[in-house]
This record gives sequence, C-alpha cells and structure tokens, in this order.
Amino acid sequence: MSLEKTKAWIKTRLGEEKYLHSLGAEETAKELAFIFGIDQEKASLAGLIHDNAKEIPYEEMLIYIKNNNLNIEESIKTNRKILHAYLGAYMAQKELGITDQEILDAIKYHTTGKPDMTLFEKIIFLADKIEANTRNLDFRDKILNILKETNNIDKATLCCIDSTIRSLLDRKLPINAITIDVWNYYIGL
Ligand SMILES: [Fe+2]
Ligand SMILES: [Fe+2]
Repeated sequence: MSLEKTKAWIKTRLGEEKYLHSLGAEETAKELAFIFGIDQEKASLAGLIHDNAKEIPYEEMLIYIKNNNLNIEESIKTNRKILHAYLGAYMAQKELGITDQEILDAIKYHTTGKPDMTLFEKIIFLADKIEANTRNLDFRDKILNILKETNNIDKATLCCIDSTIRSLLDRKLPINAITIDVWNYYIGL
C-alpha cells in the first residue's frame, strides 16, 4: 500500500490527537533512523502505524481476538493499555499486508518494550514516547540529549522505562511483568 493510502487508513482509525501523535512518531522515527543509520522509510512507516489499534474499544478488541483465534497471553489480554500494541501488530499484517517481522514486532512492543530489542525496535519504542506533536517536549529534549551526549540508545531506552514505571506508580496503575523484565534487562547492561 502507498504511503498516502496508509495515512488515509490510519486517519480513519484515529481521532485528531492520536493521528497527530502518529504523524509525530513517523517523523521522529525517521530522524532517529537517520541518526543511527538504518532504513528511514521502514522506520517512518512503523512510526506512522504503531497505534493503529489504539482507539478500538476494549470490548471490541476482545471480540476480535476471540473471532480471529489470536494467541495472546492472559496478562496482556487483561491490560487494555498494552493490548492495542499486540492487536495493532496483527492488524498491520492482516489489513495492510505488512510481512516485515521487524515492523510487526516493533508495533507489538512499542508500549512496553522488551528485553534485548533490536535497534529498529528501540527506535520505534522511543519515537512513540518522544514525538514532538503530542508528547512532553522537556522529556523529548532529555532523551535527545542522552542520545547526543552518549550515542547510547540503551541509556535513552532505560530513561523511558524509568519514566513509564514512575508514571504508573504515580497513577496507581498495575505494572505488567514484561515492564519489570524490560527494566531489569536494561538496568543490567
Ligand atoms: Fe500505543
Ligand atoms: Fe503511540
């Protein structure tokens, strides 16, 4: 599917704010891909479509999973904040015909991250957290500074996980086991 068609598809699935967030993630993914010397087109595509399932009502997600016999573990299925990422990976494959496993995995893990991510997965993980259209710009600068000063994307990834866990604690929300695994992995590097 062409980029224009993909954008139109995304636009039908998201409200104004999430669409802007997606365009921001597309742009930031492209910038980070340039900095780290990887395929910019592929990164911007993954950035653009990472939240394609974000605004599907939770009940509908569960029905979709059931009807399509998707094998998603219980701890993810019960977490509506994480589930959109898993479903989004499936839908990118099914509805956009994307077969590149790295794009699909980057979508699947964009919310939580996972231990030992590829450079590409880390770029999409970061782009989601620091895009310039809807995310906190001080935090974006903080992450971009870490990248500039250290050129170490694992440090920037750890900083994002740190911020996610603090925010979950502050809002008294559950912390999924995968988030703890990701923290333990990146703090141990
Ligand atoms: Fe998301
Ligand atoms: Fe996002």
